[in-house]
Amino acid sequence: MVNSKLNVALLVGGTSPEREVSKASGKSILKALLDLGYNVKVIDPAYGLIQPKEEYKFFEEKDFSEISNKNQLEAINSTLLDGVDIVFIGLHGKWSEDGTLQALLEMRGIKYTGSKVLASALAMNKYMSKIMFQHFDVTTPKWFVVNKDEADLSLIREKIKKFFGFPCVIKPNDQGSTIGLTICRGEIELGSALNKAFEFASTVLVEEYIMGRELTVAILGKQALPVLEIKPIDGFYDYEHKYTTGKSEYIVPAVIPPKVSNHLQHQALLAFNSVGCESYARVDFRLTKDYKTYCLEVNTLPGMTHLSLVPKMAAAAGITFEDLINRIIQNEL
Ligand SMILES: Nc1ncnc2c1ncn2[C@@H]1O[C@H](COP(=O)(O)OP(=O)(O)O)[C@@H](O)[C@H]1O
Ligand SMILES: [Mg+2]
Repeated sequence: MVNSKLNVALLVGGTSPEREVSKASGKSILKALLDLGYNVKVIDPAYGLIQPKEEYKFFEEKDFSEISNKNQLEAINSTLLDGVDIVFIGLHGKWSEDGTLQALLEMRGIKYTGSKVLASALAMNKYMSKIMFQHFDVTTPKWFVVNKDEADLSLIREKIKKFFGFPCVIKPNDQGSTIGLTICRGEIELGSALNKAFEFASTVLVEEYIMGRELTVAILGKQALPVLEIKPIDGFYDYEHKYTTGKSEYIVPAVIPPKVSNHLQHQALLAFNSVGCESYARVDFRLTKDYKTYCLEVNTLPGMTHLSLVPKMAAAAGITFEDLINRIIQNEL
């Protein structure tokens, strides 16, 4: 098999809060890579130079306490990556999705999957992403930013009332997985919502709340895959329900008029290109009752377990999980 000549280093785990998700992604990706006939070496950069001997440790070990970016830096800069043809980035979150890891790999001259340094950094920064969205005609909710050292509560309250009113969404500028995010129903909650977001970032986004449905579109290569809707299991769609139960079902292709679906795919591609993404990503949207679309963000390293959203959208386009992984690799060669 032609793939057997290629040495792939699969990075899993890492030092972000999304370490556990990455292990789940990594396990699925590893199986696909082996089935495809690649030579695969698994590396968890959080371990540094001393990598686990037993394979299960990469995926199942729970209480590893010496996670540090110093380890990650050492691992990437070591002989562990000598002779590697391409790095498959199976990590998620900060220090992997934000361009920092990509920069280290660039300096080493090693090929890697997915978006490059600038696109990764832009996509991780919601404020910068939204500026790019606006510039390229991607519709995004109204917003303004607040910096921690100049946060004046009464001024923020006035600005909210002037620009979009309550409810509004308060979120850290550069976190994922709805960490530190509050849907703020009124003035009373504003102070605590801001404080919560400031725990995670020094810049916070105050955004117009878009009532409606939750949709997402995967981009693979230069193509948008079928639109997926994330829907709470019993049809309720208020945020409380969504965040307290977390129970959702996934409908792909989403049941929406073809015109709306085409528009979402077009907006997703525009958003992808506006921050300069490459290879693959997942673009999140809100959709109102009267079919207005609002782009929330671009995820450059979305979840990649068999059950994740991008593989579901790929399947709806007739692309198997294995094929998806292979395309992501072949895209760099
Ligand atoms: N402006 C908004 N209007 C309505 N819901 C929102 C808005 N912003 C975020 N949300 C809800 O919060 C979730 C997470 O927000 P998002 O901006 O995608 O950040 P994260 O990086 O945490 O995924 C969204 O999937 C959506 O359900
Ligand atoms: Mg999101």
